[in-house]
Amino acid sequence: MPEKKYSARYPTDLPAWQKLKKHYREDMHGKPIGGLFSRDKNRTDRFSAQGADIHLDYSKNLLSANTVKHLLALAKQAKVTEAVDGMFAGEKINSTENRSVLHVALRAKISDQVALNVNGVMDIWKVLTAMESFADRIHGGELRGSTGKKLTNIVNIGIGGSDLGLVMATRALRHYWLAGMRFYEVSNVDGTQFADLQEQLDPEATLFVVCSKTFTTLETMTNAQAAREWMSEKLGEAAIASHFVAASTNHEAMDKFGVHPEFRFGFWEWVGGRYSIWSAVGLALILMIGMENFRSMLDGARRMDQHFRQSTHAENIPVLMALMGVWYNNFAGASSHAILPYDNRLERFPAFLQQMQMESNGKSVRLDGKPVKTETGMVIWGEAGSNAQHSFYQLLHQGTRTVPVDFILPAQSSGATQKQQDLAIANCLAQSEALMDGFSLDEAGGDPHRVHRGSRPSSTLLMPELSPSTLGQLVALYEHKVFVEGVIWGVNSFDQWGVELGKRLANGLIPAASKQATYTGSNRSTDALLRKVSQLKDS
Ligand code: F6P
Repeated sequence: MPEKKYSARYPTDLPAWQKLKKHYREDMHGKPIGGLFSRDKNRTDRFSAQGADIHLDYSKNLLSANTVKHLLALAKQAKVTEAVDGMFAGEKINSTENRSVLHVALRAKISDQVALNVNGVMDIWKVLTAMESFADRIHGGELRGSTGKKLTNIVNIGIGGSDLGLVMATRALRHYWLAGMRFYEVSNVDGTQFADLQEQLDPEATLFVVCSKTFTTLETMTNAQAAREWMSEKLGEAAIASHFVAASTNHEAMDKFGVHPEFRFGFWEWVGGRYSIWSAVGLALILMIGMENFRSMLDGARRMDQHFRQSTHAENIPVLMALMGVWYNNFAGASSHAILPYDNRLERFPAFLQQMQMESNGKSVRLDGKPVKTETGMVIWGEAGSNAQHSFYQLLHQGTRTVPVDFILPAQSSGATQKQQDLAIANCLAQSEALMDGFSLDEAGGDPHRVHRGSRPSSTLLMPELSPSTLGQLVALYEHKVFVEGVIWGVNSFDQWGVELGKRLANGLIPAASKQATYTGSNRSTDALLRKVSQLKDS
């Protein structure tokens, strides 16, 4: 049983954990990060690593060689390598749902032999080919809308893992959109996104991609139904078959909705929602950037998988980043982590990582069902580049809290002038320097309001450019980082039971919210709010 194998011991009982506690208290607490540079001329080299095309500079962190030594010992004692091998072998490491975790198989080649014996794995390449041929037929104009117009408006309808990764990647790869194609997304349940979209969408040129692993999610089904009604009203019921395609594991529900059997793209239970961009969930992205670019993204992720599996922990970017996450979270008392990309095309990357990290590791119970004895997933937040500087960096520089940050920096512009990207580079590097070096009372001319205490940790992920390949690498990097943290804490990073209760309660509240029934629950605040809502609706 995976839970016995991978969470046999509490991390707090491991010898390395005890050493790290002592080491933080006695050697590192309050130590200026800048001072660590003066004592070690090779610090930047020592605390840098390369994985595929991504360079990690983690020298501006509160770490010494000893810290890293103890953290690596922790990874070993927590059996990280064994867990990673278990994932790639297709073991049912998602034990609370009795599932394998095989997003890594989605970007592997058959020759990599990733869990080929697990049900569905051998179908991966068939689905990729089916998506490629579908996209070619749309792009070539062989498949058209019901009135004969080319389908150039792609609308993804999904939520959570069936929206965030896809939308993030589609925006990130804006530079690679095929000529004439337009992308839109609809996710929230309140209906305003689709209401606004209707004003600008030409139904004759619109293809809806309904994306839902379960095909039962309230938000997605409500929005899909609204889109269906709109299309039927505009072009007639017969148009539905030409204007709706779907990515799902639920064929029965797709039947019911009326998705043409030829236009359904399947995936498998072992693909978690927030890890699903590599599967049929990527269909809208393929329609926007073409299959060649999508394959390049898969290949980028595969290169990061190889780095993750083959490098020693000391050189392994996802492992190092996970260990730093544990270090700040469990030893240095940080409670949040900021993600700061310096390319506006990555503006949805922090939101995507919020789901990936917080849905994966926001857990208080271990794999074996026992409560954790230490903090787990941190709050993840962030925003793109200089927008963030003009918003919340004040707190990063002068606030009372220490927030470790990841700067993500492409060297080349992804579609604007290099001159402007150079400004982004200068800003990014200036920020990490200011965070670390600070600005002393002397430098501030004795004015305490202008002092930056400095010694605030950051890592910089540098890449040549934002491309399908480097984006694939970046996403895979964080997927593995999250997994390693989960292994150390002994939690299951692949279930999400914490979102179920709210969904169930919402379903129960729909009749009361729409005044078809009175509230029968016992929560007095909810009761009062529903009555207030009712008054406001009538006012
Ligand atoms: O509410 C959370 C969640 O279950 C996510 O894990 C998932 O990505 C999302 O809902 C959407 O689910 P589906 O793809 O089944 O519509």
